[in-house]
Amino acid sequence: MEIAPFSLERWFGQYEHDADIMLAESGIRSLDASEFDTDPGELGYVIPTDGDPDFRADVAERYDRAADEVLFTCGTQEANLLAFLSRMDEDAHAVVVTPTYQSLSAVPEAFGDVSRVWLEPPDWRLDTEKVKETIRPETAVVVVNNPNNPTGRYHSKAVIESLYEIAADNDAYLLCDEVYRLLADEPLPPVASMGDHGISTTSLTKAYGLAGLRFGWLCGPSEVVDGARRWKDYTTISPSIFGQHVARQALDGEREREILARNRDLAARNRERVSEFVAAHEGDGLSWAEPVGVNGFLSIPDGFDSGTSFCRRVVKEESIVLAPGECFGVGSVAITEGATDGGTTGEPSGPGSLEKYFRLGFGLPADDLEAGLSRFGDFLDRHA
Ligand SMILES: Cc1ncc(COP(=O)(O)O)c(C=O)c1O
Repeated sequence: MEIAPFSLERWFGQYEHDADIMLAESGIRSLDASEFDTDPGELGYVIPTDGDPDFRADVAERYDRAADEVLFTCGTQEANLLAFLSRMDEDAHAVVVTPTYQSLSAVPEAFGDVSRVWLEPPDWRLDTEKVKETIRPETAVVVVNNPNNPTGRYHSKAVIESLYEIAADNDAYLLCDEVYRLLADEPLPPVASMGDHGISTTSLTKAYGLAGLRFGWLCGPSEVVDGARRWKDYTTISPSIFGQHVARQALDGEREREILARNRDLAARNRERVSEFVAAHEGDGLSWAEPVGVNGFLSIPDGFDSGTSFCRRVVKEESIVLAPGECFGVGSVAITEGATDGGTTGEPSGPGSLEKYFRLGFGLPADDLEAGLSRFGDFLDRHA
């Protein structure tokens, strides 16, 4: 079994540590630990290892499901991995809506066969008819990320219902990575609440600004969650007890409403600021489809031939990290210094021509965003 290198992580690994400004982070700025009680008592495993039953029951209520249909994980990343391990064998097939966060295609690709259905630029709309044409009798799972990373497209209720029906009619599951869901002003019902074919994964990383907790979950029908639970004994055994302790506080009634309101407010203000910036630089070739969440997928300015070469110039000249569009397509991007810029392995990148885009994350504190946009503006003034 082979797993593709995670292009985005390798790109960040190359530049993030030394750069002055990170303008490609996909979440909301992190909350400070001092906002919470950080003493969980004894630092043992969480017992039972799939998470505290009362807390799981509280989380399950959000999905109209039972406590046993929720498994606490170390972030959405582990929840997605366990969902694939639970449902996919070597003969299995997955349909993955792309562009997307690379693990949602690379992991099923490591186990079985993947077909992609491409979101269509400029507004990254999903044509569900294409999913219907692509699904096969052996398809185990249809995978979507809503709101989408990197485009910020928030597929409507009708689109998600149609995807659900296509999966259910084929006796497959719809797996929705909902890690950005609560950044929407009017979040859709989670997919795991839609019926026997819905699986939701999420965490406190993005909408709550609590990535360091490494706390998330998988929710869905018991056969999926039971399969995931079996694998979890071999991955991380239990979630972090520290993560569970703080997550319980963050998800508690008024506290949760306050955190989400604060974070949505930051997202909305920063989105407006980036929108102004994009409009001011339209003449340089910048454009975007206004996103939900804190990820914008912008067209690269005139005069550059790939997201990789453009982002590399920006980090070298202005010490700002952006993320090349190629990181969200197919295969792995040749990100190593000296490698051919923009090269990807695997299939061509589809109708999205992802090498014409880059991701800008605007969930950071407003002052940092301002500093980043100012330097980025200088770069554009020099080059575009
Ligand atoms: C769509 C998506 N899923 C999962 C993750 C990983 O998140 P977590 O910290 O919850 O593991 C990310 C992080 O960028 C993401 O964008």
